[in-house]
Parts: sequence; structure tokens; C-alpha cells
Amino acid sequence: MDPNQVLIFDTTLRDGEQSPGIALNTEEKLELAQQLARLGVDIIEAGFPIASPGDFEAVRGIARQVEGPIIAALARANAADIDRAWEAVKDSERPRIHTFVSTSEIHIEHQMRNSHDDVRGLARAAVAQARELCEDVEFSPMDATRADVGFTAEVCQIAIDEGATTINIPDTVGYTMPEEYTRFLEGLYEAAPGLKDVILSTHCHDDLGLAVANSFAGVLAGARQVECAINGIGERAGNAALEEFVMLLKTRAADLDGLYTGVKTTELSRTSRLVTRLTGYPVQPNKAIVGRNAFAHESGIHQDGVLKERSTFEIMDATSVGLDASQIVLGKHSGRHALAKSLEELGYTVDGAALNAAFTRFKEIADKKQQITALDLEALVGDELQQSSGFALESFELTDKSGEQPRASATVTMPDGGSRTGEASGDGAVDAVFHAINAATGIDVKLRDFRVDSVTAGQDALGEVHVVIERGDASASGRAVATDIIEAAARAYIRALTLASRRLESDEPTAERPTALP
Ligand code: KIV
Ligand code: ZN
Repeated sequence: MDPNQVLIFDTTLRDGEQSPGIALNTEEKLELAQQLARLGVDIIEAGFPIASPGDFEAVRGIARQVEGPIIAALARANAADIDRAWEAVKDSERPRIHTFVSTSEIHIEHQMRNSHDDVRGLARAAVAQARELCEDVEFSPMDATRADVGFTAEVCQIAIDEGATTINIPDTVGYTMPEEYTRFLEGLYEAAPGLKDVILSTHCHDDLGLAVANSFAGVLAGARQVECAINGIGERAGNAALEEFVMLLKTRAADLDGLYTGVKTTELSRTSRLVTRLTGYPVQPNKAIVGRNAFAHESGIHQDGVLKERSTFEIMDATSVGLDASQIVLGKHSGRHALAKSLEELGYTVDGAALNAAFTRFKEIADKKQQITALDLEALVGDELQQSSGFALESFELTDKSGEQPRASATVTMPDGGSRTGEASGDGAVDAVFHAINAATGIDVKLRDFRVDSVTAGQDALGEVHVVIERGDASASGRAVATDIIEAAARAYIRALTLASRRLESDEPTAERPTALP
């Protein structure tokens, strides 16, 4: 490996997917993994296979279908987890098992309730088992930055002796500071001589807003893998934001002695938008690199300066992160061929029935919107690609809009092909339509989350609705776009219903994850 290359280990689908309210289905995870491969990340941590049959299926699907990056699966340091992780990734061309156990006193005493000797034994057995199955094994001493450096080094050396090829040092609770992290890694290098023969990795959480700074300090101390997530999503305050770390190395390349990543930065913007759309987690407007305002200049002084000479107030070019994709691409009279071509430029090959469906939706939207941007197209195609058999919304109508309890009717195509209509009232138009859908399908669910976003700016913007519902033990999310928010809400709700019903029928648990998750 080139000593100047910093490997990018993307954990959007594992640590990122652990964020509250995110519940991606297998197709969505696959779509994101394909985009991560296009982005050029080196390793995709695809999930935690023991967590549920759904997680297992998703990791296995990604291992089988996504080419290019290493596909990693997470496993606690026990035999069942490791076997399950291996089952899920073994069909990848480049599989990895990532196993972990805590080394901090606070975790050993209160969470795991075992001894230092137990930790040594667990690490030894887990890495040995993983190495028997897979040549590429990563080991993480969880909560390392709050642990004793000597004990952590001892456990890392055990993992290296058993064949671990990457040692990852997590700042699990986002507590460390750059200089402190550097000293910790230097201490490890001193006390665990084998560390210089494997890849050292960082995994920093953002509880104090230092995740990227700490990861960067780790790289300067010798790490050559950085674990991060798109838009910085992840447990609590999230992980180091991939786009920020990658653009830091690119923008300051001249001062970094040749350090670089293999990421195709022009794909950053699109990947960020895809994550926002799939997770329903919006990006703050002023977020570095991918925020709506990251390249916008509001004040007259800044605008004036940039017009005279770009470098007066700009350190990066918007095109280098792929932001030019928001330019207008199609007008309302564009034909099927133009649509297919624009979609291809955006990286989607859509033909046959899918193209026809996308074209019909395009025309519907073009009637209401004068100009269709790349962002609209992405949202629309994402919407069409997730169509699956199950319930489908035929029509809905607000039958009585007056008063505090509007009434609605909805007609739904049932999975057996039949059609049913229901009527109901609710607290507001959206609630009335949801209840009408419940009445039509005969299914009652709990709405856990409901979010509305606009795909672009402007009064005629497409609205994007994201819902999360619970039906019995199953939870499921759905999203949809339309110029009309109530229509988008109804479509998103129907999709979530379909998914939740499928999960219930296949007995697939979704809500519960094993305890002791990082
Ligand atoms: O934060 C953490 O410690 C983790 C480990 C599993 C790497 O996510
Ligand atoms: Zn983590």
C-alpha cells in the first residue's frame, strides 16, 4: 500500500444507520452501497449481521452485488456474532470481519461486568476465529480513549498476534481532544510493537464537535485508515463527516506531504443528498462541504470579492464536490430521450418500464414546475426505483376541509390486486388521509416520525415526505416526492405500510438490536 494513501472506511450503513429514527430497507442500503462504491471509498462497513435477519440480508446483498470496495461486517467478540458476520460477507470479492471488545475500566466494570483477563481472552478468541474464516480482520478496543493506554496496547498486541490486519482506535463517546488522541496513539505505538506492521485506524465520534479534528490528528500520528460517515451521521452526535475529512486532505494537499485519499470528490454532493433522502436526516444549511450554503456568498463584500477574484473568499471550488449538479437540466417540453440522457449523466441507467414510469412522473411534475433540476430528477428517480409490489395509492380526496377535523377518502390497490376505499377524519389533512388509508387497508399503525423537506428552493419546489411507522413489532419507513405535500405524504405512508406488512409476514424483527452495541 502507498504509505501516503489514507484509506476511507465508510460506516454510514452501520454506525450511521444506528442513528435514532433511521430504518433503511435492503434495497435502500444496496442503493447507498452502490453510490459509496461510485464515490470510491475503500471499505464499506455494510452492517451488523447478528442484529436482525434484515441486517443480515442487507449485508449479504451488498457483499454479493457491490464491487470495488472491501465489504466489512461488524461482530462483537463472540463466536455467534463472528460466524454470522462471516456468513454475510463471505461472498464478497474482498470480505472483512470487524470485531470489537471494550478496554476501558468503565465499560469492563459496568457494561460487560467482567475482568481484564476476560477481555484478553475474548479478543484473542475472536480474532483467532475471525482469522480462520477471513484473511482481512479488523479489531477495535471499544472506548479506547477512556482506557488505560498500557492495557489497550496489550489487547491490541494480542489481536495482532492472532492475525488482525487493521487496529482501529475508537473514541466511542467523542471525549478526546486532538493532542490527547495523538499522545494516545503514540503511546500505543510504543507499547504494542506489532502496531507498525498493521494498518492503524481512527473512529471518532462528534460529541464535542472534534471528530474530524481528532481523525486528522490520528492520521498525522500514523493512522492510514479513517472511519467516517456521510453527513457525519451516527450514534448520538454522529461520526467524523467523510466529506469534511476528504476535502481537508484535498484542499490542504500542498501542506500535507502527499497525504491523499482515493475518493472521487465530485461524487460527494450527490452521495450526501442520497443519504439525506434515504435517512430523512436533513443537513444543516451551513454544514461544511455539503450544506446548502457551503459555497454561497451572502454579504456584498464577499460577493464583490469573489466576482473580482474567486480566491478572495473561496478556498474550494463548488464543482470539486459535484455541486454543479443542481443546475437546471430539463425544461417542461423535454422528451423521453432527453430524460434518459440526463438521468444517465446523473449516474442512473433507467430504461424500459422504469423509464416509462419515470417519464410519466416527470411530465406530471413538469406541468406544475417550469424547470426541472438535477436535484428534482434524483428525487424522482429515487422515488420510482423504490416502487414495489404491495399496497398502492390509486387516489385520495379531501371530502370535507372545513372545521378542525377534515375528512378524507382514499382508494388503495391491495396486494391481491383488488381495490378498496376508506373514509375517515383526522387532526388536519394529512392525518385524515392517513386514517382513510387505514380504513381502506384495514390496518392500523402508529406513526413514529413524519418529516417534510423541499428538494430545491422556490415556491414550486418538490416536497419530500419521510414517514416512520410501527405495526406490531415491525417498524418501517417510507418516503415519496410530489409537488403536493399531502400526495407525497400519502405515497410515503403507503410504502411504509407495504414494508411493515412484508416484515410482519416474514417474521422479521426490526426494532430491537442486541445490547452492548457501540
Ligand atoms: O464507537 C465505537 O466504538 C464503534 C466501534 C464498534 C468501532 O462504533
Ligand atoms: Zn462508533
